[in-house]
Amino acid sequence: MPSTRKTADVAGSDTVLDIQGLTVRFETADGEVQAVSDLSLTVAKGECLGIVGESGSGKSQTFMATLGLLADNGRATGKVMFGDADLLTANEATLNSIRGNRAAMVFQDHMTSLTPHMKVGRQLTEVLQRHRGLDAKAALDAVIAMLRRVQIPEPERRAEMYPHELSGGLRQRVMIAMGLLCHPELLIADEPTTALDVTVQALILDLIRDVKDSDNTAVILITHDLGVVAGLADRVAVMYAGRVVELGDVNQIFSEPQHPYTQGLLACSPRLDDALGGKLKTIPGQPPNLQRLPPGCAFAPRCPYVIAACAERPPLRPAAGGGLKACVRDDLASITKAAS
Ligand SMILES: Nc1ncnc2c1ncn2[C@@H]1O[C@H](COP(=O)(O)OP(=O)(O)OP(=O)(O)O)[C@@H](O)[C@H]1O
Ligand code: SF4
Ligand SMILES: [Mg+2]
Repeated sequence: MPSTRKTADVAGSDTVLDIQGLTVRFETADGEVQAVSDLSLTVAKGECLGIVGESGSGKSQTFMATLGLLADNGRATGKVMFGDADLLTANEATLNSIRGNRAAMVFQDHMTSLTPHMKVGRQLTEVLQRHRGLDAKAALDAVIAMLRRVQIPEPERRAEMYPHELSGGLRQRVMIAMGLLCHPELLIADEPTTALDVTVQALILDLIRDVKDSDNTAVILITHDLGVVAGLADRVAVMYAGRVVELGDVNQIFSEPQHPYTQGLLACSPRLDDALGGKLKTIPGQPPNLQRLPPGCAFAPRCPYVIAACAERPPLRPAAGGGLKACVRDDLASITKAAS
């Protein structure tokens, strides 16, 4: 179901997750790192929100904070509403009843949360027994059915295996099966296809699409791969230095990006349909030091269109070409058209 909220990110009756003013800070020996700054986003039922941005832009930590999974040196402020619960102030018991049940997060394989010394079938049945109170037999039946849904061949045999006995692609499918077992309202997939071969990537993306369309699950898809975003997302949030700098409908972001950073990302990416698969490359220059964020636009040192007004931080506001952008300039469309 495509999003109906294309020009403003305000919570509606179909909102599943409503993040308002989220800031994430880490205490380190060198001082404080501000990984996420005053970020607001919503995602609706049956919607897929793509999150893109360079490495270190705060994509993962935004959602780690959302589910109360920050490292011990991290602290989050703001509001993260999931139903009636503010996940930032909820106690551990509430978080445990939501995580892996009504809201699931699937990580890239190397961050797998599968326990190495436990058979995968048992790990999955435990989730259902804990959250849904199923008996062992009913839980195992549901697990086998879910393994079959994620297209794991011979699910009864695989359920008897340990994680290391499975290939990376199968392990990733087990992780997704685990995330989907309780039919969550929200699935957060953090680089779910990175490091997998193209056939397995396609299978996993089909599966996420199916969950979104058939189960009306809200999906947040974090990825470096613009091709994946183009194929699956309804809306896209572009992050830079811990902030959303552009937010819009997927077609608008790809055909008429409004923010110079998004324009740079797209300009230095290979064509989405080329053999390299549209992998996101970096644009010249470096992102700012998150320990010393500049008072103005964080993209200014790399921006070809910088003017004096950029010394003041631009808020995220409606852009002339659609969506929202955090940039002071409204004349970029005419400049970029004249230059092309
Ligand atoms: N425990 C921590 N202590 C200090 N800094 C941290 C900690 N965890 C993350 N960070 C910093 O927070 C910033 C944002 O990290 P995050 O993992 O969200 O980036 P990302 O956008 O997901 O990048 P990638 O695309 O590489 O996964 C980075 O600069 C990272 O080094
Ligand atoms: S606010 Fe200024 S520096 Fe920042 S992206 Fe816009 S033009 Fe560039
Ligand atoms: Mg990440």
